[in-house]
Amino acid sequence: MNGFPIFPEGFRFGVATSAYQIEGAWNEDGKGESIWDRFCHTRGKIKSNDTGDIACDHYHRFKDDIKLMKSLGIRNYRFSISWPRIYPSGTGSINRAGLDFYSGLVDELLENGITPLVTLYHWDLPMALQERGGWGNRDCAGWFADYAKTVANCLGDRVEQWITLNEPWMFIITGNLLGYHAPGIRNPWVCFRAVHHALLAHAQALLALKAECRDAEVGITLSLDPVYPQTSREKDLWAAEMADEAYNRLFLDPLFKGEYPRGFMNRIRLFKPKIQAGDMEAIRTPMDFLGINTYSRIRAHYAWYIPFLKFWIDGMDIPDQAFVKDGVQYTSMGQEVYPDCLYEILTRLRTEYGNPKTLITENGAGFTDVVKDGAVHDPLRIDYLKQYLGSALKAVKEGANLKGYFFWSLLDNFEWAEGYCQRIGLIRVDYRSQTRIIKDSAYWYADLIRANTARQWPESSLSNHTDPD
Ligand code: GCO
Repeated sequence: MNGFPIFPEGFRFGVATSAYQIEGAWNEDGKGESIWDRFCHTRGKIKSNDTGDIACDHYHRFKDDIKLMKSLGIRNYRFSISWPRIYPSGTGSINRAGLDFYSGLVDELLENGITPLVTLYHWDLPMALQERGGWGNRDCAGWFADYAKTVANCLGDRVEQWITLNEPWMFIITGNLLGYHAPGIRNPWVCFRAVHHALLAHAQALLALKAECRDAEVGITLSLDPVYPQTSREKDLWAAEMADEAYNRLFLDPLFKGEYPRGFMNRIRLFKPKIQAGDMEAIRTPMDFLGINTYSRIRAHYAWYIPFLKFWIDGMDIPDQAFVKDGVQYTSMGQEVYPDCLYEILTRLRTEYGNPKTLITENGAGFTDVVKDGAVHDPLRIDYLKQYLGSALKAVKEGANLKGYFFWSLLDNFEWAEGYCQRIGLIRVDYRSQTRIIKDSAYWYADLIRANTARQWPESSLSNHTDPD
């Protein structure tokens, strides 16, 4: 494809960020401590002992960042709300300054013609709630629903689309079983109870948002990747099936089918969560859309040495530089550039899960950007965008119900345990001076949006649409 992929009319392009990764102001204006504040302030947890204390200073610079978005013609912005900025102790007294910040952010977006997509939880649980058991405590579902209600009451007159949780698999498994993300727990009993409690929290927040804002569109964002066996050996084929249940179906099946995947649940039966009457029906409450974060594919292999699971997935170690291996490009996060992941995930949702309305709520890549003469040349990111969007368009032409694409991320930002060594944004951030430099890929994305604005085609012509390019 030599031109821009042109999507059906109404297809939305945007960018995504999250509070802890860009805001900074970790203890300003009444904000409470989050589990990521605590984790980062614990030496040895984050590369170079980086923290989100300042990050991109977006808390103070959001108006300038919004102006940059507008200058690029970006009209959709996915961001998250910091729970401890609203409830410093997680429940109880509300921090008015926190609500005022997000109210001002939403007003600034709308004044600049940018539509907000709000994520209520992107990993920064109030530390006070972690001290009461966090996601391992079934009460966390109610605490989250109360928080959702409060935010919706403040912003619901101007925000129509909401995401309850961002990537429950990531924040629960990496934070409560693998331990390399906050709160840094390695406890399978807590972990698999937390899986269930997060799904209950999503369900209760969904109802709370709908009760507060009649027109609210509510969804959840899941990290979904196609799973492949490392080899064609029988044991690796089994491992791929188990990894698919553990990574994709652990959340997809309860949300869309009202049940957990049997094979995997049997492997972790010792740690199975207590499921109360009505839980699975509640979790299956219909959503308005499904957010998908996908970057690549996963390879799984049989691993006798892994307790209970007996399988493992590749790519858990993260290099700091992008590289090519056997002719295949990998990102600086160590992810294989595998554009077909979008086509494969979207097609699976169409054929196996009822073709729900979907948004790609994250997709993007870290590469080694070249800063020269005040510009940032990132041809690999442009090529990445072309390939991945082409893959998504192929699925749309075959009937996938995809309605938007949010690039991760607007800005280079704090990449969790990797700190600031990863650069994944469309806009480069110099963390010392806080200056922003728009990368070549951002200008390409702006041209893509312009081309789509001019040439999106009626969805009714889907069956016989051919690319003008
Ligand atoms: C995730 C998170 C983002 C990451 C992004 C880049 O998907 O892990 O939602 O916060 O920063 O994916 O790794």
